Amino acid sequence: MERLQKVMAHAGIASRRKCEEIILAGRVRVNGKTVKDLGAKVDKDDLIEVDGKPIIMERMVYVLLYKPAGYLSTVVDPRRRKTVQDLVGDIKERIYPVGRLDYDTSGLLLLTNDGELTYSLTHPSFQVEKTYLVEVKGKAGEALKRLEKGVELEDGKTAPARVRGVQEKGGNTVFQLTIHEGRNRQVRRMCEHIGYPVINLKRIAFAFLDLKGLRPGEYRFLSDEEVEKLKKLQGNYAGFLSKTKNI
Ligand code: URA
Repeated sequence: MERLQKVMAHAGIASRRKCEEIILAGRVRVNGKTVKDLGAKVDKDDLIEVDGKPIIMERMVYVLLYKPAGYLSTVVDPRRRKTVQDLVGDIKERIYPVGRLDYDTSGLLLLTNDGELTYSLTHPSFQVEKTYLVEVKGKAGEALKRLEKGVELEDGKTAPARVRGVQEKGGNTVFQLTIHEGRNRQVRRMCEHIGYPVINLKRIAFAFLDLKGLRPGEYRFLSDEEVEKLKKLQGNYAGFLSKTKNI
């Protein structure tokens, strides 16, 4: 179930604000009944008419992709390199990545046509936890503690992070790093900063979602429960924003 004005905006009727005005003006019918309530929710089986004309609803699609290394997180590349679009090409809705992973990074990437959810999940003040499996060159040991405290990068100090499961592998170090910011190439820059360049990077978790059951290049649709849970996170964020606005 989605808010009526969101579904209308998504169908290309007008901006969400404008759609609210259209609803309040009594121009919208749902299953034959005029609806003037901005809290009204609809689902894909409802018939929505604006000024008597039915609107075509696009299905909201939420996809969890196991991105392999060697793919761009964009939809098209002028240099014709492979993109994540090539991996979800059989989905007919136009979906876009929620944030991005570097070309060389593998792991969990969400894609959706829900612009509102994308906006809040990628907003810098939205603190969703992302966990990476990181391999760095050399025996990093104690130096990893510096990542937990935050390191000074050219775009400012990073927020405290969490390091877990440190293991030596050959002469290298493997560990899990959890951050909740989403700056460009952040993990690579953090590790570079402490003197241990990244050799391998894979995102293994995004909020409560992980890669279970998927192999590189495969995707699955999120369940309704997972979508609702993500939206709840988003709801917390929206609440946070409106609170700070009132100050
Ligand atoms: N941090 C990086 O450095 N690269 C990614 O792709 C994701 C997080």
